[in-house]
Amino acid sequence: MAPCFLLGGALLFALHAVLAVPAAPSLPRQEADATDGIAPLAQPQIESFKPYTNFANAAYCAPIVTVDWSCGQHCEANPNFKPTAAGGDGIFVQFWFVGFDPDLGEVIVAHQGTQLLTIVPVLEDLDLLPLPLDEQLFPGVGLDVLVHSGFSIAQAETSQFILAAVKNTMQEFNTSKVTTVGHSLGASISLLDAVFLHLHLPDATVRFVGYGLPRVGDDPFVQLVDRLGFQVNHVANKKDLVPILPPVLLGYRHISGEIHIDEANQWINCPGHDNPSTSCTVGDTNLLLDFNIFDHAGPYDGVLISTFC
Ligand SMILES: *[C@@H]1O[C@H](CO)[C@@H](O)[C@H](O)[C@H]1NC(C)=O
Repeated sequence: MAPCFLLGGALLFALHAVLAVPAAPSLPRQEADATDGIAPLAQPQIESFKPYTNFANAAYCAPIVTVDWSCGQHCEANPNFKPTAAGGDGIFVQFWFVGFDPDLGEVIVAHQGTQLLTIVPVLEDLDLLPLPLDEQLFPGVGLDVLVHSGFSIAQAETSQFILAAVKNTMQEFNTSKVTTVGHSLGASISLLDAVFLHLHLPDATVRFVGYGLPRVGDDPFVQLVDRLGFQVNHVANKKDLVPILPPVLLGYRHISGEIHIDEANQWINCPGHDNPSTSCTVGDTNLLLDFNIFDHAGPYDGVLISTFC
């Protein structure tokens, strides 16, 4: 393991960010009242996330074992799930699956994430600039809405398979509820899927649940997500590095709906974008000095997300 390498990388990166960005975008507005609405979740609320956490974990399994839900304990954690489609090769295209969960009454869309050593270089790669979303996939979204191009390329690759599978599953199981889930890179793909599905399926009630979500887009992007109004939650564990990348200095902002797991394993509701309270991720972690790469995997209420299935 190479925490020193990573720390070195982060420092080097931060220097790059300071030195190489000619005109830093304006820094975010401070929240009017940083402590407003910050509160711990009650135990039943925390437990309501468990099925989604296990789906995000199962997304690390190959389609050969998710398509018939035979992926061992990852699958058995949601025993009644009915998969309807699965794909990806785990190399160029992250694994994914779609299906219906009768206990939740929801269509689930899940995308595989990456190992930490793979995602950090992606997030620190300054060649991957934020770019406008594809107009065909995201009709009516303004050109000022910029998204990390690594994430939008990954989402575009599977978008048509996901849309077809979600439509079929909604019809087959007579439901309008669709929840997209994922961990790490998988969370960023699933967030873009949620926006995409909301735009293409006006009859669907979309929700997004992410774990260890990096920042995905710029200020107009997070405002777009707020305006579309579907439910978003992203759980950030303790001093995980990934949720504070890419940095605000490069114009990235976090969507609303943060839940921060503190050192006492309380789940704290953190309203707004990049809430600066020390109870929340931005106030609790620091890109240069104060993060822990091992927090990325969890545990999220007892579920350690494994990159191996
Ligand atoms: C589908 O669901 C709707 C709303 O829950 C219900 O009114 C309708 O009867 C259901 N249709 C079938 C074929 O089960």
